[in-house]
Order: sequence, then C-alpha cells, then structure tokens
Amino acid sequence: MSALGELYQEIALCQQCEIAKYRTKVVPGEGAEDADIMFIGEAPGWHEDQQGRPFVGPAGKYLDELLASIGLGRGQVYIANVIKCRPQVNRDPLPAEIQNCRNWLERQIEIIRPKMIVTLGRYSMAMFFPGKSISKIHGTAQKRDNVVYYAMYHPAAALHQQSLRRVIEEDMLKIPSLLAQTEIIEEEEQQPQQLTMF
Ligand code: URA
Repeated sequence: MSALGELYQEIALCQQCEIAKYRTKVVPGEGAEDADIMFIGEAPGWHEDQQGRPFVGPAGKYLDELLASIGLGRGQVYIANVIKCRPQVNRDPLPAEIQNCRNWLERQIEIIRPKMIVTLGRYSMAMFFPGKSISKIHGTAQKRDNVVYYAMYHPAAALHQQSLRRVIEEDMLKIPSLLAQTEIIEEEEQQPQQLTMF
C-alpha cells in the first residue's frame, strides 16, 4: 500500500475529537502522491462528509474551474483540509480540532513534499502565515525551507461575495509562474514563530 494509503487508514481510526462521532465519512484528502502543489482548505462540509472526498460541493466545483483555468485537474494536484471531519452544522473549526488534526496534515506534507502549498481561506492561512490577514497577503508568496507558501481566499467566500471572484481568479492565474520559479524564489528570513510550524 502507498504511504498515503497507510496514512488514510490511520486517519480513519482517529477519534480524538467529539466531531469524529458524528461524521459519515472522514475526509483525509486526495490527489497525486507526487504532486508539486498542495491546496489546503478548511474543513469538510456536508457533501464532503457524505462522499469522504475534499471539495466536492459547490466550493469544490468552483475550485475545479479555478484549477482548469491554469490547465490543472485534480489528478495533478493534492487537495486536503486543515481538519478531516465535518464540524456539525458547518461551524468554524475549533482550535482544539485544528491542533488534534495538525499531525495528519504534517504527515501528508511530509509524504507529498510539495514545491508549493496554497492555503485556501483564513484557517489554512493561519497555520502557515501566523498573525497575517488574508486581505493583505492573498496573492503573495513566501518561501521557507524550500517550499513556496501562497495564500488565497477560500473558493466558498468568492461564491458568496461576487467582488472576490475576480480576486481569487487572478490569484489562481499567478500560480503557474510561481511554480515554475520555485527554485529561484528567495527564501524569507525565518521568524522564530514560523520555525515551530513544521
Ligand atoms: N470547504 C473546505 O474548506 N473544504 C472542503 O473540502 C469543502 C469545502
């Protein structure tokens, strides 16, 4: 079995949070084990919980369109979430849930070793750009330890707020050239807080 397959089996047994009791299916993530780009969203919603797959509802359809705009399909990227179980009634993830689930995400990143990590929305952004505001840093990249981190708005936010559509679509269009330049983008100076992240 692949390293990701083994990890998914472990994730499926996880009962660390109360929300694990209410899930229909756990949603570990999916995509290519050797993907160059990893997209990290927030948490499964109703559709994802039903299917056990990330981004398969309306926000997922829009993410598919955004990926297609840069010539990519799901099979060429990896898509995960900050937490792997659906919070009831789609509430925001709790700090304890994010903390409990963090190890799974770190292990996914270790296996995939992406060149670029794209955060979708503020919960994902907060893990990699602590203390930053999405309205300020969306569409900007930061390289640390040989990985380019890039923050975007969440596709669901753009679905609810028309004015964000152009922003998210333009931010997506910057990804191919960033990806082509990962080797030459300069590393950011590390702040002590960021060193503890991964
Ligand atoms: N929103 C997310 O953040 N992740 C999903 O998987 C679906 C919707």
